[in-house]
Amino acid sequence: MDRHQALRSLQNQPRLPLAFLPTPLLHPPHLQEALGPSAPHVLLKLDEWTGFALGGNKVRKLEFLLGDAPGRVDTLITCGGVQSNHCRVTAGAAAWLGMDCVLVVNGPLPDPPSGNSLLMRLFGAELRSVPSREDRAPAMEEEAERLRRQGKRPMVIPLGASTPQGALGYVLAAVELDEQMRARGGRPPGRTWIFVASSSCGTLAGLALGMTLLGRQDVRLVGVSPDISAQVMLADTVEIARGAAALLGWPGDLLPDLLHPEDRFVGAGYGIPTPESEEAARFFGRHAGVVLDPVYTAKAAAALLAWIREGRIPGQDTVVFWHTGGTPGLFR
Ligand SMILES: Cc1ncc(COP(=O)(O)O)c(C=O)c1O
Repeated sequence: MDRHQALRSLQNQPRLPLAFLPTPLLHPPHLQEALGPSAPHVLLKLDEWTGFALGGNKVRKLEFLLGDAPGRVDTLITCGGVQSNHCRVTAGAAAWLGMDCVLVVNGPLPDPPSGNSLLMRLFGAELRSVPSREDRAPAMEEEAERLRRQGKRPMVIPLGASTPQGALGYVLAAVELDEQMRARGGRPPGRTWIFVASSSCGTLAGLALGMTLLGRQDVRLVGVSPDISAQVMLADTVEIARGAAALLGWPGDLLPDLLHPEDRFVGAGYGIPTPESEEAARFFGRHAGVVLDPVYTAKAAAALLAWIREGRIPGQDTVVFWHTGGTPGLFR
């Protein structure tokens, strides 16, 4: 099986249409101006507008992860933080499919409910709070067991839907971006640097496999961490990408020099803004009317601004800021 056949075999994977695709690829003229004359060409890929249940990157992953769930499953179980975007979209998908949803979240639930936590309730999910991140996986198994004993057919969705199957959503997204860039007048002359927030790494893994199967040797993927180390990001991404490649029957490795994990912008920790992320949110807001969330996209944008200002990206190159959503996190 060659890489073209592998890409074509994506069409045979079970898929539940949830997202509004393609998402827009826009050039923000005044943000470009604000970056100065020597900055690379900047494009925004707006996956905050995948639409379903207020959008974001999880919608693309759940399309594949839930591809064969209808008729086989009656309850979705997943986990995350109390303001998890993934939990919000999973609860929305369960509601759309007429299923029940149990969410295992770590940390105290906000009272009154706000942001994603409010939306999870509106979508009718049952919430179970556990003390720490480590308690989530065993609690999901307990919930699944409890439901099976009641004769139900639960499906446990791992953190962030970042399984090989979920990552297929971002293999397809890579193809989508490639087509959009070609429609804008062909591949740009220099390299294309894609900045994307990366935590459970399914998004980055899917993009990496997609760009590899497309043969995009000009692409550099900068995964920006809101919590994990660069080493963990690299290891997790390669593992998920390998699993996704196996689903498509493709035995090869990722392109060399494709992955550039960046963990300098975490600051004091997950969900805690930094001066750089706050500046990035103001910059994108003021110069493009684009809303960044404080947990993921503002930190990814902080990295993008720093890399451009540090002169790490030549002026003839192109930068794509992949907006992964998370807007409800602003209203927590
Ligand atoms: C808004 C947003 N951006 C980025 C990410 C990271 O994506 P991934 O978990 O696929 O690495 C997430 C989820 O964790 C998210 O909710």
